[in-house]
This record gives sequence, structure tokens and C-alpha cells, in this order.
Amino acid sequence: MGKRFYLTTAIDYTNGSPHVGHAYEKIVADVIARAHRSLGDEVFFLTGLDEHGLKVQQAAAEAGLDPQKYCDGLAVQWKELATRLGLSIDDFIRTTEPRHKAVVAAILNRLHGAGEIYKAAYTGWYSVREETFLTEKDRNPDGTWDARWGQVVPLEEENWYFRMARHQEWLVDYLERNPSFVQPQSRRNEVLGFLRSEKLEDLCISRPASRLAWGIPLPFAPEWVTYVWFDALTNYLTVPASMGDPAATAVLGPDYQAPAPVAGTSLWPADLHVVGKDIVKFHAVYWPIMLHAAGAPLPGQVLVHGWWQKDGHKLSKTTGNVVDPIAVIDEWGLDALRYYLVRELAIGPDGNWTDEGFRSRYNAELANGLGNLLNRALNMLNKYRDGIVPAVSDELAADARTAVADTERLLRAHDLQGALAAIWTLVNRANLYVEQTQPFRLAKDPAQAGRLDVVLYNLVESCRILSVLLAPFLPSTSARIHAQLRLDEKPDRLARAAWGGLRAGHKVGAPEPLFPRKDLAPKNPR
Ligand code: ME8
Ligand code: MG
Repeated sequence: MGKRFYLTTAIDYTNGSPHVGHAYEKIVADVIARAHRSLGDEVFFLTGLDEHGLKVQQAAAEAGLDPQKYCDGLAVQWKELATRLGLSIDDFIRTTEPRHKAVVAAILNRLHGAGEIYKAAYTGWYSVREETFLTEKDRNPDGTWDARWGQVVPLEEENWYFRMARHQEWLVDYLERNPSFVQPQSRRNEVLGFLRSEKLEDLCISRPASRLAWGIPLPFAPEWVTYVWFDALTNYLTVPASMGDPAATAVLGPDYQAPAPVAGTSLWPADLHVVGKDIVKFHAVYWPIMLHAAGAPLPGQVLVHGWWQKDGHKLSKTTGNVVDPIAVIDEWGLDALRYYLVRELAIGPDGNWTDEGFRSRYNAELANGLGNLLNRALNMLNKYRDGIVPAVSDELAADARTAVADTERLLRAHDLQGALAAIWTLVNRANLYVEQTQPFRLAKDPAQAGRLDVVLYNLVESCRILSVLLAPFLPSTSARIHAQLRLDEKPDRLARAAWGGLRAGHKVGAPEPLFPRKDLAPKNPR
């Protein structure tokens, strides 16, 4: 097996419960993972939890729990979310695991040995909430500190610094030569703009253990723990290294006790990091510099998504403006949630959840669009032909080929919203075909039997192709369409979307509603 397509999500802080924004990022990454498998790639998909740092230590203290116990409790809830979202993950990392601590220690030793880390004293203004020293540039024009920094206190400390500044020119050059490293383009421009206008400073990568106990000790100075972002970013390296991937263990050098490679483990470097807009700087500046300083090959791309709001306002537990993904799944089904999130919002801009918009897409596009098409196609084939597929014919073949080609191109470009729109051109075309050909009328006229065969074939074959195209997006719907068509092979290979897969004489099953109508549903999707 060659190099696998290795993709990751951000790892979520264990300082609270998941909301729909977290679910969105994981679903986007899952669709991409499944799309690459459908295109024939070997894939490795990683997600997990970011458990160290002040935020988590404080949340644990508020809950009156030891931080590890607190994280263990939340990890159950977050792993349950991954299961309920149907994530096709290959591993789930927690930064409190021994395998991760070993890799963080090794990369720190490596960089320390290479002269990339030094100790210095520093006095400055410190944001407790954001765990970061502030500079004069962070002040408001009137000299005050913005509320987003929370409590800001003067602090003098000896700490350890990573020589980030010396790599600034290299990074600008790298970004210029690799236009797809940060996507979409607007985010790349933002990073380049920042790097061209401001001087990077060395990065403080330690916290005195006296002030922050909840972290990974520096291997060469255990009175300090590792800055949470340095710890967290390293998770992407931990999993391949701890599986013995030679390209990953090479980054860590001889200090790392590399395990024997698990067969088929060729992951490093990551192909894709899917992250939210608030953490671009960490992934597009700190992370590539950390790797470059360690002499490591860089990831292929940082794909940056926007943030969800609800009804035009920030998601917030304090104001109750939240969408609980589990509650939506319980009421509407997983695929309805996956569909709405990916169809409503392109990867990049911010999105706005409205219950009305959710219901409207559910009814119009899922129930009346896709569900109705399958229902009509199977119903008529059962009623008029005892469920037996007629001879292959190709009136919708060109429409299907266009939808397949567009979907493939858009999936490769990770334009998931565009791919769903392309798939729905076939849904709509096939539904229009029913209106235009009026098979229920043809059925009344024995002289039109041949014509009816043509129409029925084109409808069921379109449904089969749709099940293949939908596999990355709506895996269980795709499987249910396949089951109703009584097909044995799986719909999860895009190559199966070629026209003519259904053979004459094959017997299909009875239709069962994919998306029950909810017009009279009393409750809102929350
Ligand atoms: O930042 N809409 O964790 P986190 C869309 N532990 N995405 C959202 C969102 C919203 N309303 N709110 C949050 C962290 N996110 C770090 C990451 S990675 C080495 C460490 C996204 O729990 C957010 O942009 O605060 C981020 O990508 C992810 O959820 C986790 O956020
Ligand atoms: Mg956050």
C-alpha cells in the first residue's frame, strides 16, 4: 500500500459539550474522507480531543473534579458524538494519552537539540482566558484591553521560547510558492497579508508548572509544562509516529522510541487539516514553522471553514442560542443533519442556522426531491413490471454523466456544497422526466408498453447512480437506496456511477420512505 490520504480535524477542547459548529467540521472532514475512498484512495481520518491547558484546568476546577477525571467524563460524550455523526474515523486521539506525551517530548527534544528553543525572562501583559501574553498592538485605541481577552494581568516569568521569527521569510516564500497550502484563497491572502505586514516574534512554548499544572512537562526542564497549542498541534504527528510510520518517526529523531511499523502505515505528511477560521494562524504559521524547524515535510493543505450562527447570532450557551446536533439527529435523522450543514454552507464563509431553513430543505430537497423520486420509481416498477428491471436504455444517460463528472470534479476540489448541487441536478431532472413522460398514463395504454419500459429503466437507473454519488454525503441513505434496489455490491465507489449498471431482469424491492414528511411536526429542529 502506498501513501494514504491522511486528513484531520481540529481536536476539540474538553471544556464543555459539543455544539453544531463542532459537528459541522467533523461532518465536512468525514464527507471528504469518504469522497477520497470513493475515488479509490486509501484514507486515514483522524479526530480527537485537546485536553490540556488552562481552559480545561479551569473548567475541571469549576466542576470540582480532578482534570483527568473531568476529561475522561467528557471524552465519553465527545466519542459518542463521533459515533452519532457516523464519522468514518480511523483513530481518535486524546492529548492525555501516553503515546502523545512521548511524541511531544520527542519533538521538543529535537528542536531543543537543534538550537531552536531557548530560555529567557519576560515581563508583559497576560490574558488569562486566552493563555497568551499580549503586546501593545493588542490594546484598544483608548488603551484598554478588549473584553475578549478576559482578565489581563502584568506578569514576569522565565520561559522557553521557540525561534519562530527566524523562519518568517521562509514561510512567506513557501506560501507564495504553494498557493493551495491555505484554502480558500481569502484565508491564504489573510495569512500572507499578516506575514508581510507584521514581524513574527519567537513563540513562548512553556508555562511554569507552578501556574499551570495541567500540561506535558518539558523533557529538558520539567518545572515547565508545554504551551497547549504546541502540545495540541503535535497530535497530527503523534498518530503516524506511534504507528511506526517511518516518515513520521524520522521527524522525531533517535530520541524517540519508534515502535515497529504497523503494516500499511504510510501517512506522513498529512494531506489535509480541516480547521475553523479562528485557528488559522496556529495551523498556517506556527505548525509549518514547527515542522520546518524540525526538518520535516509539510502537510498538503489547511482547509479553513467558517463559523455557524443561529438566527443571526453567535452560538452561546449563556444566552441559550444553541443547536444540539444530537437532538437534531434524534428528531430528523443523521443524514438530514449532514445534508443541511453541507448544502447550506460552502467551506469558507460563515453560516446561519435557522429551523425554518432546515425544515424547508428537508421537505423540498430530501422528502419531495430525492425521497419522492425513489418512491415513485420503485412503486411504478413494482406496479407495472412486478419489480423486474426492463432492458437498458439511455434517455437520462447524458444528464447522469454530466452530474457524475461535475460531482467528481467538485469532490476533488473539496467543493462539497457544489457537489451536492450537481447531484441534485440529476434528482430534479429525473423528477421532471416523470412529469414529462407521464408513466402512469403510458401504463394505461398497452401500445405504449415499450415506451413505459424505457421510462422505468431510466428512473431506477438514475436512482442507483444517485445512491453512488450520495455515498460520501449521506451514507445511510445511500445504503438504503441500494437495499431497496436489492443490490449486493456497495455504493461507495464512484466508478460504479457509470450508466447501465442495472441489468434487465434484476428484481428490485419495495419502496420505503427515505425521509418521512414532517409538515405537521410540532417540534423545531434543535
Ligand atoms: O480551537 N462554527 O478547540 P475548540 C463552526 N482545541 N466551527 C466552530 C464553531 C462554530 N460556531 N465553534 C468552534 C480548539 N468551531 C483547539 C484546536 S487543533 C490542534 C486544536 C470549530 O473546541 C473551531 O473553529 O475551541 C475549531 O476548528 C473546532 O471547532 C474546535 O474548537
Ligand atoms: Mg474555540
